[in-house]
Amino acid sequence: MSSTSWPYYPVFMRLRGQRVLLVGGGEVAARKLRLLLRADARVHVVAAQLNEEVAELCASGAAVHAGVVFEPRQLTGCRLAVAATDDVALNRQVAETADAQGVPVNVVDDSTLSTFVTPSIVDRAPLLIAISTGGAAPVLARRLRERLEAMLPSAYGRLAAFMHSRREAVRSAAAHTARRAIWERFLDSPAAEQVLSGDEARAADELAAMARQRPAVGEVYLVGAGPGDPDLLTFKALRLMQQCDVVLYDRLVAPEILELVRRDARRLFVGKARSQHAVPQDEINAELVRLATDGQRVLRLKGGDPFIFGRGGEEIDRLMAHGIPFQVVPGITAASGCAAYAGIPLTHRDCAQSVVFVTGHARADGTLDLHWDQLARRGQTLVVYMGLNSLPQVCAKLIEHGLSADWPAAMIDDGTSPRQRVITGTLADLPQRVADARLKGPSLLIVGEVVRLRERLRWRGEPA
Ligand SMILES: C[S@@+](CC[C@H](N)C(=O)[O-])C[C@H]1O[C@@H](n2cnc3c(N)ncnc32)[C@H](O)[C@@H]1O
Repeated sequence: MSSTSWPYYPVFMRLRGQRVLLVGGGEVAARKLRLLLRADARVHVVAAQLNEEVAELCASGAAVHAGVVFEPRQLTGCRLAVAATDDVALNRQVAETADAQGVPVNVVDDSTLSTFVTPSIVDRAPLLIAISTGGAAPVLARRLRERLEAMLPSAYGRLAAFMHSRREAVRSAAAHTARRAIWERFLDSPAAEQVLSGDEARAADELAAMARQRPAVGEVYLVGAGPGDPDLLTFKALRLMQQCDVVLYDRLVAPEILELVRRDARRLFVGKARSQHAVPQDEINAELVRLATDGQRVLRLKGGDPFIFGRGGEEIDRLMAHGIPFQVVPGITAASGCAAYAGIPLTHRDCAQSVVFVTGHARADGTLDLHWDQLARRGQTLVVYMGLNSLPQVCAKLIEHGLSADWPAAMIDDGTSPRQRVITGTLADLPQRVADARLKGPSLLIVGEVVRLRERLRWRGEPA
């Protein structure tokens, strides 16, 4: 099992009128019985003794007391089985028999015997939120549930029911491609609030008006995804990531961040290795215009900040020329993120009063056309983006233009991620140290006396 594979496949199952075998009649079984009855399952209870609640539910006809001793034939025709006794051997027998018959089985408090587990539930029926840690950390699941309970007004169920009741109306009024945008607009409008406060008639009128409106031109969200750690996303980035129809992303966007984009948004990968682009910039610009003209909400997701070595300016230039609405959301640039996570302040009263960001990306002929006189300065921190390959050249040039060979420098690889590595040294020896470390990139070079502060200010563990 890979570290990212799921221990269980999440699914909601229709149990209305379906037979479920519940072995056990105590308090735990009663809890399971209550949940199964919420889904209108036909529950057959097998137990020698029933507690008061289970006995009452059986007596009232809500459930069936089908026997006092478990027998394999009781599983015939069952959609699910639940073993909820305090007899370990009996629970195992139920699990093994059910599994042999192909009936999914849950053994209370024993995930090794269970082929399905019941998650923690936030109940705003018909809206249900299921939370599971696959048995790894039930307390964490419970904590999360408490937070969601506090966040979601109880009337959310009413909102979900209202939307269900209007689905047909919206379906017949608007084309398939426009429907999602209508629902999104509805949720962001006062009409949703009207439903929550009980004024469903007015909300229905407003929703009908929204469904009649012609689909407008879409919009482009040019969003900075930060250097890698998803926790460094801004609230606004996250909000737009969750409401886009399509996302164009490049290599620097960490998979963990892409996970947070709306699940059913179309994903277009447009960036490849350093110095090449899977899709040339001009085609990316044209694609943004085409998708937005088609009425879609297009997320252009970029590593770091879109306006720092991100070609964001070129993209919005094209959007402006075509009158496409857009928003730009800044992200934490690699310099800020990597420096912070490496314990290297970019400025410091004692040793660095300014900071300069430059690109170390060499021209096709291998030369680096930079203003070395301005870069090789004391009292200043120099941050070099895209400088992994040109590191020997950068260090040599800085020495040539006046910095001493023992001037401190650090290379930060895959900064802010759990895989972050920091190689420190001097202008003289850093190139060899970095070559020995076989860094994979993306890597960021920081040059200046601030690098020495890391010895004191390093606050985060890193892989060896
Ligand atoms: C094309 S530039 C994009 C910069 C981006 N717009 C930003 O604001 O961070 C790519 C370079 O950013 C730096 N970079 C981006 N993310 C990084 C990370 N997580 N760790 C180290 N360097 C990173 C590397 O120098 C990489 O070669």
